[in-house]
Amino acid sequence: MKISIGSDHAGYRHKEALKKALEEDGHAVIDVGTASEDSVDYPDFASAAARLVAEGKAEMGVLVCGTGIGVSIAANKIKGIRAANVTNVEMARLAREHNDANMVAVGARITPVALAIEIVRTFLKSEFSGGRHTKRVEKIQDLEQQ
Ligand code: RB5
Repeated sequence: MKISIGSDHAGYRHKEALKKALEEDGHAVIDVGTASEDSVDYPDFASAAARLVAEGKAEMGVLVCGTGIGVSIAANKIKGIRAANVTNVEMARLAREHNDANMVAVGARITPVALAIEIVRTFLKSEFSGGRHTKRVEKIQDLEQQ
């Protein structure tokens, strides 16, 4: 799968570990940065990774900041993005199955890196259930036109 990944300085180390794990799994990872632990602004990197997903240049996206909150709020401003801030494996599965999320956000200050990798792997292998969830996701999309 083609996956965009982005973080701020707080998420940099997690991002690097996630990128390595995803590449080991055979995914093609498009890293939009950041490239060090020097202080940056998370909306810049969240929006860059989100645009790749929204434009179809990546199938899914992964975001990391200190909490996962800032990057998910920023990514959700991009039309077509459903970014879920996830703190455990069940949320990762349900974000795909119920919400058809196309980006997953984790917090480096909240979630240990091994769990973050497990969360992202679960997210990527889970599938949207459709059925009763379809019209709910469509209603989310409809909100973008209002
Ligand atoms: C950066 O200090 C921190 O505010 C950021 O990584 C993130 O947690 C924001 O939501």
